[in-house]
Amino acid sequence: MQSRTSLSSWQNLVNAGKHMKTQHMSELFKENPQRFEQFSIKLEPFLLDYSKNIISQQTMTELINLAKECQVESWREKMFAGERINATENRAVLHVALRNRSQKPISLDGENISDDVQKALNKMKDFSDKVRQGHWKGYSGKRITDVVSIGVGGSNLGPQMVTEALKPYSDNSINVHYVSNVDGTQIANTLRPLNPEKTLFIVSSKTFTTTETMTNAKTAMRWLVASSFDESAIAKHFVAVSSNNQNATEFGIAQENIFDMWDWVGGRFSLWSAIGLPIAIDLGFEQFIELLEGAHEIDNHFCEAPLEQNAPVILALLSIWNCTFLGAQSQAILPYDQSLHMLSAYLQQAEMESNGKSVNWQGESIDYPTVPSIWGELGINGQHAFYQYLHQSNNIVPADFIGSVESVTPVKGHHETLMANFFAQTQALMQGVDEAQVREDLKAKGRTAEYIDKVAPHKVHKGNRPTNTILMKRISPRSIGSLIALYEHKIFTQGIILQICSFDQWGVELGKGLANNIQAQLAQNTISAEHDSSTQGLMQFYQSGKKS
Ligand code: F6P
Repeated sequence: MQSRTSLSSWQNLVNAGKHMKTQHMSELFKENPQRFEQFSIKLEPFLLDYSKNIISQQTMTELINLAKECQVESWREKMFAGERINATENRAVLHVALRNRSQKPISLDGENISDDVQKALNKMKDFSDKVRQGHWKGYSGKRITDVVSIGVGGSNLGPQMVTEALKPYSDNSINVHYVSNVDGTQIANTLRPLNPEKTLFIVSSKTFTTTETMTNAKTAMRWLVASSFDESAIAKHFVAVSSNNQNATEFGIAQENIFDMWDWVGGRFSLWSAIGLPIAIDLGFEQFIELLEGAHEIDNHFCEAPLEQNAPVILALLSIWNCTFLGAQSQAILPYDQSLHMLSAYLQQAEMESNGKSVNWQGESIDYPTVPSIWGELGINGQHAFYQYLHQSNNIVPADFIGSVESVTPVKGHHETLMANFFAQTQALMQGVDEAQVREDLKAKGRTAEYIDKVAPHKVHKGNRPTNTILMKRISPRSIGSLIALYEHKIFTQGIILQICSFDQWGVELGKGLANNIQAQLAQNTISAEHDSSTQGLMQFYQSGKKS
């Protein structure tokens, strides 16, 4: 397969990288007062400012050329047309069909799937309305007050992140809880204050084979049956979301309580499906639709905007620029809105499970750096923890700063302080401060020459650290939908340019298989001599500790 490295735009970018590494952004800003205008995009729910990257107009032109040479537009069309672009699993990638709010049909193998999607949405509406209005009753005839969503990875992070983000939009008529960890502590702590008569469980698992989810669901079932003394109570307290109807039924979920998923929806792109049921129960179905609407708006933008003005494409290209051509190895996601406190965890799965791979579409080793590791934390908390590293370490960590013009929960004086930090941080990361300036400042403060010599080098900030700023008008179901879709399409574009199969996740299988094997040995108190000495030693220590 022709390596991307042989493309002329790629070669030009290698050279551009060498040149741009010698440039400082603060100089580029001084030279070009139009830089913000030139390198920002205004969309309905947010402004994307990418001017604080080490780029010139020439760099952007070459990056757009790269997107063109990699045929991003035609791959995008293939995705929306339902072609099986998830090649290793021979599946279409159609999460966009779940939020297709237009009248335009989306087809798969010649069949319009919009009707199936609509049917699934109707079922979600019906069920979420019943639960919220108290018409869905528990085994003793009481209304449901608490919903526990059991799932992990894509069957947890999306719905939980959105639930957390949109808390101010909930009427709190139902308490929604999430359990993802197989560590019994989480489910024990979640169930302790709950009344089984009024608790509904949603078991979310696309495959319905995930050990952690099945273990938690079995524990929940035992808890319910211990209270009701009657297995028929399960039908009133358990629903499932899965594409594996057979396993869900065998598990004991009533057929009518199973919400379908399709193999053309990847787990980490599934919050728009019935995996989003906890969101609909928490916020009401109308607000769930708003979320879909917001995502659909970005789908339209992604399909229609020229590449130069296409926000997901620009984000993907900048990530590739920073990592592949300038050498960054990680990227921070830094939200300055408390409601987005789970965003970096969510994007970690979305990007790293999608593109954290090292072979191309043909299975050949990729000979260039691909995507960074994604990490992050609420910005303000990060400022008092790891920003030291962002400002002064030898490793450059490009970062996305995400904030809101208006707070959904305004408290006098808070938002200005928050946002002052938001603006100051990207400025500081870009500008830095050189030694001459540091010395001058210390002198102005009346410091001695001896003190200045000692401290000045420690106070130098080299700056020139790339950031994107996404400034949302306000957190809302619609704007959160848009924000997530923005990143989803960024990830898609990165995958196309880097020739990565973004929609499989074989890398999680090896560990799962070994864990099953080890679990069987732990249950029998045996240790296979085939394990390496480290694994044997650890298991021995564990087993002997358990016996004592
Ligand atoms: O182990 C990784 C993974 O397969 C993710 O891709 C997925 O989101 C998660 O596990 C949960 O899978 P499921 O929904 O099938 O339980």
